[in-house]
Amino acid sequence: MEATIVLDKVNHYPVLLKEIISIISPQYGGTFIDCTFGQGGYSKEILKFSNTKVIGIDRDIKSKKIADQISKNFQDRFFFKNIKFSQLNNLKLKNENIKGVIFDLGYSLNQIKDDKMGLSFSSQGQLNMKLGLNDFSAKEVINKLESDDLQKIFKYFGEEKEAKKIANRIVSERAKREIDTQNLVKIIESVKRRNNSKIHSSTKVFQAIRIFVNKEISELIHGLINATKILKKDGILAVVSFHSLEDKIVKYFFRSLSENKSISRYQPKMFQSEPLFFTKQRKPIVPGKKELSENVSSRSAKLRFIIKKKNFYNFDTDVFEKFKSLIKVENISNKLWKKL
Ligand SMILES: C[S@@+](CC[C@H](N)C(=O)[O-])C[C@H]1O[C@@H](n2cnc3c(N)ncnc32)[C@H](O)[C@@H]1O
Repeated sequence: MEATIVLDKVNHYPVLLKEIISIISPQYGGTFIDCTFGQGGYSKEILKFSNTKVIGIDRDIKSKKIADQISKNFQDRFFFKNIKFSQLNNLKLKNENIKGVIFDLGYSLNQIKDDKMGLSFSSQGQLNMKLGLNDFSAKEVINKLESDDLQKIFKYFGEEKEAKKIANRIVSERAKREIDTQNLVKIIESVKRRNNSKIHSSTKVFQAIRIFVNKEISELIHGLINATKILKKDGILAVVSFHSLEDKIVKYFFRSLSENKSISRYQPKMFQSEPLFFTKQRKPIVPGKKELSENVSSRSAKLRFIIKKKNFYNFDTDVFEKFKSLIKVENISNKLWKKL
């Protein structure tokens, strides 16, 4: 049976939905974990196939309202948990035939439109950027961290060239008053006056703060590791990413699990460990012309997926080592405890 995909353009538009459905093949049944439930775009589509079960998770408590509506219609087939995907291993999944684990990273249109969340540079009021279940907000980051630390966050998580100037200007401005979202935008604009780029001058700094506040690097790494463990043989792990840091991590992790890696190039082939996953295509899947014309925010989406070759529940990975410089920047947040 082929599901008809109806898109709701007013509220939100699940990115690469057709492609996700064709990869995970819910028509053959099984349990699917939607790690970024959001507005439920993917979950609702999977539930159209009667022999499926969906576990949706999201760190934003606002998703629960939508989830509750779905639960009314699919009492035995849909379950929702308000947790972070780094906590996937806490789900009780005994006897579940996990066929697919899906991540659609980042935030939804509804979240960016929510002024209180302060994700957009047009938001009014206090800095926030918490997606849910956070330890601190952007307000503490911008008003409390030292210039050197702010600089590292903007540089590593936003690839912002003017990181140092912006960090110094923040520190001198906040001596006069607490900085809110619009003050921050003005500070960035004052540093980047001669900005000829097509993207808004605040885009990179805002991305950097959001990644830092939500610990998106370690969230993603823990989420991926946990997902690979709970999948059954032939199960599919699919991830849609939206910026280069995310895609770098997903690409490295997928390659490291689905390639024969020689421990030493002098070691005989027979000692090389067998890959745990396989991949059908190395290149990411990106939105086609139609989707791009209907939903401009899909332009940076990249979908990658891998398929589990056998049942296993533990494995070694060097992904934390590989991205240790990013984790180190994330750990700057430990300094905030002393300042709160
Ligand atoms: C792009 S939206 C997903 C949209 C969804 N696919 C749909 O069709 O409605 C991303 C969602 O992931 C959630 N999210 C982001 N990071 C998360 C994390 N670490 N754990 C759980 N949820 C997370 C956000 O709160 C947001 O609702």
